[in-house]
Amino acid sequence: MSRGELNAVHAPAVLRPRSTVNAGTLIIGASQAGLQLAVTLRGRGDTAPITLVGDEPHAPYQRPPLSKEYLAGDADHGSVALRTPAWYAETGITLISGEQVTDLALSPGSHPGGAAITAAGRQLTFDRLALTVGAGARRLDVPGADLGGICYLRDLDDATRLRSQLADASRVVVVGGGFIGLEAAAAARNQGKTVTVVEAAERLMWRNVAPVVSEFYRQAHERRGTHVQLSATVTAFTGEGGRVRGVVLADGTELQADVVVVGIGVVPRTELAERIGLECDGGIVVDAHARTSVPFVVAAGDCTARPHPLTGEGRVRLESVQNAQAQAAVAAATLLGSIEDPRSVPWFWSNQGDLRLQIAGLSFGYDTVVVRGTPDSERFSVLYYEDDRLLAVDAVNSPVDYMVVRKALDRGTTIDADKAADAAIPLKSLLGAGTEAAA
Ligand code: APR
Repeated sequence: MSRGELNAVHAPAVLRPRSTVNAGTLIIGASQAGLQLAVTLRGRGDTAPITLVGDEPHAPYQRPPLSKEYLAGDADHGSVALRTPAWYAETGITLISGEQVTDLALSPGSHPGGAAITAAGRQLTFDRLALTVGAGARRLDVPGADLGGICYLRDLDDATRLRSQLADASRVVVVGGGFIGLEAAAAARNQGKTVTVVEAAERLMWRNVAPVVSEFYRQAHERRGTHVQLSATVTAFTGEGGRVRGVVLADGTELQADVVVVGIGVVPRTELAERIGLECDGGIVVDAHARTSVPFVVAAGDCTARPHPLTGEGRVRLESVQNAQAQAAVAAATLLGSIEDPRSVPWFWSNQGDLRLQIAGLSFGYDTVVVRGTPDSERFSVLYYEDDRLLAVDAVNSPVDYMVVRKALDRGTTIDADKAADAAIPLKSLLGAGTEAAA
């Protein structure tokens, strides 16, 4: 579909004329990014209508606790919700939940604005558009994939389903040894289940951490009784009475399972962006100010492919709350015509049972790592460098090292690698002693 057209089945006869109506901002994706965008617009004094529409039947909530506290039973629906219903009314933000936007078109010619249609047939017009549509769980497409007991863990309904399935399970197989898989594995193991993690790559969390951290996590999970199988590929699920009973690996091994958790990454949702002709390349392409290839359309969060948040170079897709919030705030400012410094230090965390991993910065492209402390103590950190420039830290149960590196990255300074390797020297004392890094 080209720009300006609406699908004939759902199309309104004409797009509403724009000259007399202040249609305001439409935010598609009632996620953490979508909500932050709305909050920032209001916070900056925007009084125009704001409509936040999302396909999930819930008001915006926090996703990170789903694979941690929520799965463990220490959080519930109420505690993950980001705002109360009263808040939406007070701020004049129209929240539409449980309605998927199925079609989208921009006004013809060079007029800003356009219209969206939801699956329920509702038409939403806008002057400005924000896409905060996120990413969906990547599906594992092997025979038996539709059997009962095979669960994903991306949204609140997924987590609720998995939590209730875990209650009656004794053998759990987790496919994917990334953050989601390992957090789910730790939660299941803490509930006394027999847990096996099946990871296709040679090491855990390979996308995000150095081999020394991967190996530490393999050993730490094994110490807690979780079995970890690396370089293992799932070829099929077997079942009985419509429910999963086994996970078949490429080498012919069959692991018994009552419940399977699949956490093999996410795929950015770019369909709507493609429909209105926005450039997409592994995500909706935006610049540092969250602008897409159309001036009055911004995008933020997991769905975007954006410049590095510190260097402004290249193109990265960041899956994090920090990015969702920072980028959404920048996007809101952009929509209001304010172009500001978009620089922000990326940070992430993963709580796997009692193991708290905190990451600041982006480590890709590193040529050197410095390990502070000993992994066997379950308290250490790994600093990443490229040409002596500090890139990032992975801190395991070491919040102080994490904070110091985060501060250094924020200031655009480095930390001397040789001195950082000596765990007897507090990292804080090295802060500011380094040379100015390219920012
Ligand atoms: N079989 C086994 N493992 C697989 C398969 C497969 N068929 N396909 C992929 N994997 C492995 C990858 O090698 C990788 O280690 O699954 C892991 C997925 O890890 P991530 O890509 O980090 O994704 P995931 O853990 O699902 O997390 C998705 O959600 O909450 C966020 O922070 C989280 O950003 C992350 C996102």
